[in-house]
Amino acid sequence: MKMYLRLIQFLSCCVLCVYGWSDNRIRKFKDDFSFGVSTSAYQIEGAWNIDGKGESIWDRFLHNYPEVIADGRNGDEACNSYHQYKRDVEMLRELGVDHYRFSISWPRILPSGYPNIINEKGIQYYDNLINELLKYNIQPMVTLYHFDLPQPLQDLGGWINPLSVEWFEDFARVVFDKYGDRVKYWITINQPNDVCIQGYSGLMAPGIVSKGVGDYICVKNVMLAHAKAYRLYEREYKKKYNGQVGISLGLNWAHGKTNATENEEAAAIYRDFTIGLYMDPIWSEDGGFPRTVKERIAKKSKEQGFKESRLPTLSKEEIKLLKGSADFLGINHYTSFLVEPSGQQYDSPSIDDDMGVKISHNKEWRSSQSMWLKSAPYGIYRLCLYLNKVYKYPQIYITEHGWSTTTGLNDKSRVTTLRDYLSAILFAIEDGTDIKGYTVWSLMDNVEWIAGTSERFGLYEVDFDSKDKKRTARLSALVYKRIIEKRIVENDWLPDNWKIEKEREEL
Ligand code: NOJ
Repeated sequence: MKMYLRLIQFLSCCVLCVYGWSDNRIRKFKDDFSFGVSTSAYQIEGAWNIDGKGESIWDRFLHNYPEVIADGRNGDEACNSYHQYKRDVEMLRELGVDHYRFSISWPRILPSGYPNIINEKGIQYYDNLINELLKYNIQPMVTLYHFDLPQPLQDLGGWINPLSVEWFEDFARVVFDKYGDRVKYWITINQPNDVCIQGYSGLMAPGIVSKGVGDYICVKNVMLAHAKAYRLYEREYKKKYNGQVGISLGLNWAHGKTNATENEEAAAIYRDFTIGLYMDPIWSEDGGFPRTVKERIAKKSKEQGFKESRLPTLSKEEIKLLKGSADFLGINHYTSFLVEPSGQQYDSPSIDDDMGVKISHNKEWRSSQSMWLKSAPYGIYRLCLYLNKVYKYPQIYITEHGWSTTTGLNDKSRVTTLRDYLSAILFAIEDGTDIKGYTVWSLMDNVEWIAGTSERFGLYEVDFDSKDKKRTARLSALVYKRIIEKRIVENDWLPDNWKIEKEREEL
């Protein structure tokens, strides 16, 4: 009930804001709330084969299938952050952020995937970046795995091979050893759903199609790999360094297309497959995969003639290993979906077929440059309250939230989205959600996987044709800087100099 009252309050507040009013209370982010921005190695570093870096599955995938990239631009050069990291840190200082979330390229430091060869130049690169950040009091938040598996490990089956759990633990040990003295925030895996469900749908690297089978095996191994790395830190590093280790899950909100029972039921199924599958093993009371998901896949598998469920089981030890294996929940949140039962046939087997639902967006939600991304700020509020209820108030960092545009500095739509979502987050905090920080995706335009550079997510625009990959602040960068400074969301503030910037842009 309270949630609905709050929702009504939030929606009416949005309406009031549009008409230039707001309620009188000023909502403020606390001084220790951490504001940041995020990137990932493949998407920004470039230097794909320089200074001893090994090949990753994304190097291989986009070299082999250049035709899948919307504008043909892969990550070979990207933003060239491998050479431009000082400029990146300068931008972070301009913004005044408290933390910077970036990822370590596994093949840059372990070209074979194994710790038999440690690439000192790769180690040095992240050393330099971390030291440069700390020099300016910016906390590094480091992701160990953001989609770029070393190709030699893929050749051995990648995340489908149960040995991948150990490979990841060995990689994590190298990273903790080298940087643990300075990094206090660790994220093991970025978006297991993308790594596995997209990764084995053919749409993302490794480009293998194994729907409803390989993807589920991958989910099990990736989740176990996360837990192993968490336990490793807990056992061998926590006492010495006192850092925190979490995982970033891609969690969007979803509810029934209408409140008809069949739509609400379809939404519950969708949430169990997209939220519960990753949350339950770590945050639920009993641990393991959600009962509903296990039952649905087992039933379908039987009908399809499989001897066992296509969703692998977790042993008692594995359930125990996973349960409680995170100091914080990283949420990557972008949009919301409306759900109804599906009338259509999906590939069988597949997760879509297992769920049997259809998702859509409300036509009134604002559109971005990405087909899948529409603005529904109430969704982040409802997601937070759902997580509180089901998982007992986890400690949260929003590790990604962002908006895509085309090129151009006058990104008013990003500014609006930023403000709307931050306002919703303030409401969620007011209503008891333990959110410690917020992170914009992304510091700058980068290689958006198969969308190449056709979808721009940056607070800074990047000129990919220029020699030094020139970065220029967009309007949203100036607005975000102001939000960080003031700790409030002002709906009418625009920087004094913006008009000049705009005119320059139009010249
Ligand atoms: C989530 C992923 O972590 C990131 O790599 C991607 O660029 C953004 N979503 C935007 O799609």
